Amino acid sequence: MLELHTHDGLLMVHLLQEIVIHNHQVLKETLIRHGFTFESETDTEVIPKLAKFVFDKARDEGGEQTVTFTQVVTEVMRQLEGAYALIFKSPHYPNELIACKRGSTLILGVKELADANCGTLFHDDKTLTTNGKPKEFFFSSDLCAIVEHTKNYLAIEDDEVVHIKDGCVSILKFDYGKEKPASVQRALSVLEMEVEQIKKGNYDHFMQKEIHEQPHSLTTTMRGRLRDNDVVLGGLKDHLKTIRHSRRIIFIGCGTSYNAALAARPFMEELSGIPVTLELASDLLDRQGAMYREDTAVFVSQSGETADTLLALEYALENGALCVGITNTVGSTLARKTHCGVHINAGCEIGVASTKAYTSQIVVMVMMALAIGADKISTQSKREAIINALPDLPNKVSEVLKLDNEMKDLAESLIEAQSLFVFGRGYNYATALEGALKVKEVALMHSEGMLAGEMKHGPLALVDETLPIIVIATHDACFSKQQSVIQQLHARNGRLIVMCSKGDASSVCPSGSCRVIEVPQVADCLQPVINIVPLQLLAYHLTVLRGYDVDQPRNLAKSVTTQ
Ligand code: AGP
Repeated sequence: MLELHTHDGLLMVHLLQEIVIHNHQVLKETLIRHGFTFESETDTEVIPKLAKFVFDKARDEGGEQTVTFTQVVTEVMRQLEGAYALIFKSPHYPNELIACKRGSTLILGVKELADANCGTLFHDDKTLTTNGKPKEFFFSSDLCAIVEHTKNYLAIEDDEVVHIKDGCVSILKFDYGKEKPASVQRALSVLEMEVEQIKKGNYDHFMQKEIHEQPHSLTTTMRGRLRDNDVVLGGLKDHLKTIRHSRRIIFIGCGTSYNAALAARPFMEELSGIPVTLELASDLLDRQGAMYREDTAVFVSQSGETADTLLALEYALENGALCVGITNTVGSTLARKTHCGVHINAGCEIGVASTKAYTSQIVVMVMMALAIGADKISTQSKREAIINALPDLPNKVSEVLKLDNEMKDLAESLIEAQSLFVFGRGYNYATALEGALKVKEVALMHSEGMLAGEMKHGPLALVDETLPIIVIATHDACFSKQQSVIQQLHARNGRLIVMCSKGDASSVCPSGSCRVIEVPQVADCLQPVINIVPLQLLAYHLTVLRGYDVDQPRNLAKSVTTQ
């Protein structure tokens, strides 16, 4: 959060998230013409100055009493183009506070105090009304931040203005066409989260905690959704027919969420029988890619607030596609704006590097594929095998987490490496991309995830005895192809680390000259959930050993709310 003051300290703006003001240059020029000076090149400085300009102008025209704080803020909103979540305070309006948003997330937490005595507004049967008593209010851009104070919250909608005056709150809807914003009533939601989720407990870092939490997070992802040899996804059931009739399923996301969708593509195609394509949200927007009414667009996002993903969602809605959301964040913009969806229920993820959300996203997409393909006869036995394997997946993840020390040892041997390559294919192409992304973003080491099938088309030129290469060769339909990749890398003296299924060490590395990571074997489409864990641990230990910030890597934010 940032505070910006005008020179005379009259108005200030708290920025709840990174913001972007598209017309800040035009506004800045106007303000400079009116005598304002600027100290920075940021979009944000324009906001408190614009507020002061609006206030001064109104006061000059009609005296201080003629302009209310709400009028000042709504006039500022009218002039700002972009995405923001803001809080305004001013000594001209003591005991008043105004919060507003457009594009970004703004959460209002509401805590009832036993002896509160608020004459005007509030919370009665979980509805914001003009009778009742609350009141301690919390503003946040993230639900996790309010859980230690209250579980009652409201996700503020675009163009809503929250006005707190003398301890009482009202919510107004700002309408561009109308002079005065109208008062609205909103129902409070109850946060299903415990305060332990936002504490590190016995761990040194959130990323470490979140990696080790995966047996639990996967259990909560599946809880209540696997019944009588079937999958029940409440948020999708009314739309399954439409999805089954769609011409294609398009997965859309960024970063790790995109990688989770990439992991899901093979089984989604196989179990649903529907062609599946993938889009990086920014690329879809850059190309204005083809999207039709007959498409099902599935948006994957941990935070549910990633700007590119949300803009791609708007684009898909405009083009008439059925929009499905897969997110970890209840009340997020993605959850609210999609037609239907599934919460991954992985619990609060605080480390910037996404770990437990990735594995839960994959499991949700497995369940989604099972639900979509429920009436497909040809895949019934595969479907049953996956449904039977899912409940044991958390145990298998606990088993693979025992590799922690081994991964620390591997990290020690890689501290000085300049680069790391990860080769995967089939179900584990995504594992290669995601493993490399983890190393890159937290350990700040150059790492590339690659499709092993592309090795001969360029990357092979880089192979020598100094470059560490992880090859994912767990047992599936691509196993023999990966064995041949290993042989070719071996022939070029590659510094090989092979991930294989337990018991396969001698067949993936007959000469014993490569380092082997043995992982438990599960149903092929679930294997990416297992295989990513050692790579998450490796990235974590590399980061600690190299002395970098684990939970807040350089230059990165947990939610990328600007384009
Ligand atoms: C993950 O480790 C990264 N921090 C990043 O790639 C992230 O996955 C991406 O920004 C998308 O975020 P989202 O899932 O919240 O939409």
